[in-house]
Amino acid sequence: MLFTPTRDDTIDRAAPAPVDPAFRADVLRGLGQPHKAIPARWFYDMRGSQLFEAITQVPEYYPTRTETALLHAHASEVAKRIGTDATVVEFGSGSSIKTRILLKAMPRATYVPIDICGEFLDEACEGLAALFPQLKIVPVEANFMNPVNLPVKRDEQAMLGFFPGSTIGNMTAAAAVDLLRSMRGTLGAGSHLLIGIDRVKDPARLVAAYDDAQGVTALFNLNLLQRINRELGGTIPVSEFRHVARWNESASRIEMHLEARRAIRFEVAGEAFHMEGGETIHTENCHKYRPGEMRLLLAAAGWSELEHWTDPQGDFSLVLAKAEDDRQTP
Ligand code: TRP
Repeated sequence: MLFTPTRDDTIDRAAPAPVDPAFRADVLRGLGQPHKAIPARWFYDMRGSQLFEAITQVPEYYPTRTETALLHAHASEVAKRIGTDATVVEFGSGSSIKTRILLKAMPRATYVPIDICGEFLDEACEGLAALFPQLKIVPVEANFMNPVNLPVKRDEQAMLGFFPGSTIGNMTAAAAVDLLRSMRGTLGAGSHLLIGIDRVKDPARLVAAYDDAQGVTALFNLNLLQRINRELGGTIPVSEFRHVARWNESASRIEMHLEARRAIRFEVAGEAFHMEGGETIHTENCHKYRPGEMRLLLAAAGWSELEHWTDPQGDFSLVLAKAEDDRQTP
């Protein structure tokens, strides 16, 4: 059963996209800074969401494959621990492909996918409803970085947050702790969280994962500029930009940038900008953690690790955590 989404569905999807004031504000502010940067959430328009799914299929991008195998290996243990009738809340559900593995092990579950892209959410829900006719699906179109009011009765069911794909790594540690803490608030006392986190490893493998030979990640990164041109009346010469992925050792993260090949001028929403050759727009961070650091990150937000699974190479971690009770401590 597919429940009605909690949003206004009456807008005409064929009409040109109206200017999103938040997108405009973020882009103008980000391009106006001395170090240009645009929040990564603006990657995910329809084409961006599709390109992202394509990234997960390229040979260099090991995280999706590895995490998928970990889910296959451990979904039934998760279900046994939480209950096969739990409510699974996914933060940034995307195509919901990995979720299928989990839901297969939890046949009486309720599924609450939260995603910022409504069109993509609808498609994913239709796919899931066809696969799991019994499944109760309650989609929520929202930015999961903000507190989300769940349209379910939290106190009557076991709550399992699902946050795969090492999306937590796309935040700074400070923002990650804030988000993990807010998830704990969203899911409530006694809830669990199943989270996928990518590990620190050979930088060459990390860089290759974010700069694949087919150039899919490059298209994904460059699509942001196309989106700006399309939705904000930009005149950015997209072909004058190059996708760059670099390992920042001291921050323990892969950074994605869009680098100007030469000095350029362009306009966005009527404002003029200038970039030097070699100057970049910083578009994404992917932080990598060691197992002990993951434990600390979770603990800092009130989650204690129950299980920590990894693959034979130790490339990726799947962690099951439980919300700490609020109780007096020494
Ligand atoms: N969170 C995943 C990662 O860091 C997926 C992801 C987010 C990603 N943004 C990306 C992958 C940009 C490639 C490029 O790996």
